[in-house]
Amino acid sequence: MNYKTLFESLVEKYNIKVSPSGKDVYSPIDGSKLGTFDEHWNQDLDDSVQSLQKTFNQWKNYPAPKRGEMIRLFGNAVREAKEDLSKMITLENGKVYQESLGEIQEVIDICDFAVGQSRQLYGLTMPSERQDHRMQEMWNPYGIVGVVSAFNFPAAVWSWNFAIATIGGNVVLWKPSPKTPFISLMLKSIWDKTCEDADLSWAKNVLEMHMGMNAQAENICLDSRIRVVSLTGSTEMGKSLAPVVQKRFGRLIMELGGNNAMIVTPEANMKLAVKSIVFSAVGTSGQRCTSLRRLIVHNSIKKGLLEKVVTAYATIKPGDPFSEDTLMGPMINKQAIDKMQEVLTYCRTNGHIVHGGEVVGDTYVNPAVVELTKPDPIVQQETFAPILYVIGYESLDEAIEIQNNVPQGLSSCIFTDNLQEAERFIGANGSDCGIVNINIGPSGAEIGGAFGGEKDTGGGRESGSDAWKQYMKRSTVTVNYGSDLPLAQGVKFDI
Ligand code: UN1
Repeated sequence: MNYKTLFESLVEKYNIKVSPSGKDVYSPIDGSKLGTFDEHWNQDLDDSVQSLQKTFNQWKNYPAPKRGEMIRLFGNAVREAKEDLSKMITLENGKVYQESLGEIQEVIDICDFAVGQSRQLYGLTMPSERQDHRMQEMWNPYGIVGVVSAFNFPAAVWSWNFAIATIGGNVVLWKPSPKTPFISLMLKSIWDKTCEDADLSWAKNVLEMHMGMNAQAENICLDSRIRVVSLTGSTEMGKSLAPVVQKRFGRLIMELGGNNAMIVTPEANMKLAVKSIVFSAVGTSGQRCTSLRRLIVHNSIKKGLLEKVVTAYATIKPGDPFSEDTLMGPMINKQAIDKMQEVLTYCRTNGHIVHGGEVVGDTYVNPAVVELTKPDPIVQQETFAPILYVIGYESLDEAIEIQNNVPQGLSSCIFTDNLQEAERFIGANGSDCGIVNINIGPSGAEIGGAFGGEKDTGGGRESGSDAWKQYMKRSTVTVNYGSDLPLAQGVKFDI
């Protein structure tokens, strides 16, 4: 397939802005140059913020179910463009086409979810201790929500923020990853067309782009007019940007690094476990924040399970992500490969047994399994690559302790058919993560549940459940409909 031609046809069809000069974007599939984006495009944050503020004044007064209707139309347009959008994701970040289709399905799903949510921005009514008084909670939009998204889920994670923030009456400033600018410009173009087709041209500005690098992300964090900032990326990025937002008391939603584990007990269905291990550890070339990185296996079954995993890994041949037989595409760039090799060299030097992991092309690598021969601090860090550490355990308490003993707390799972083991894992003495699965791997979550994690993962929750509340400010309203003015707590203050 000629990737450049495919890229150009998508650019033309969706009217995507490609600059004549600026930062080059290369496809990790074959290193070919796709296009250039102007990293200084909309550099003037002030213009964008002013335009967003103006649009916010209109959008917040446009009824929530009507905002939901715009998201419904957008979701439909994304449905129609599903294949094209997925192709753009695969071109830009090398994700296998099936997974790109899945990512766009996630965009569609969250739009559907948000349509319903737009009629359910419920506030509680509480009894007041004072006679003829009523208390209630009102949820109003904050205003501008800044969204900084990452290359590995360039569409889905943005859409969780966009769909939910906007039905709540907010407007969005989006800073996509410089590695995947064109999928974001494509989605922006589809949003603009949706607004035009609906005769609601002004709503185009509900979404503004702020293309660029780290400096642009920092500008968003610095600007106190951007009340909520949603950050997706590494823990390192979160640690450097979060204080910038906190210093001005902005609201943060963070989805940062994961270091996700699976516990496999002797009572697990091994067939399911093996399938799930391979998908979670190898899918997206190990570049999901939910990728499986640590396999914690009972010592009595460790040897057998390891053999099965290594055998399954040997069948995985990294290759063209557009080909139907490919289960693992390239990694995002050469630096990612180098980082992976550095970690594998460390593992070998420290006496661990490394299976696979060979470099097979500029951006292609075999997935690796590392059998740890002794405890090693290397498992504390997230390497954004297909490396799976295998660790043995004796008791379930020990397994849970190993699982929790990392700085990150995103996703976790246990494979067992034993009810007691499963219940222990999800309870107060179990996993400390935001996502806790039973007989399902740590990756591939649905949009209906809140997504995010604890500790170094940042504590935010996006998509599903009641994540909408993070984009809304809650006011507690007390109404006096009586003819007296009783004070709370029975305080007397007569004048
Ligand atoms: C991410 O890697 O940042 O649960 C998001 C999953 C996907 C989302 C991953 N639905 O693996």
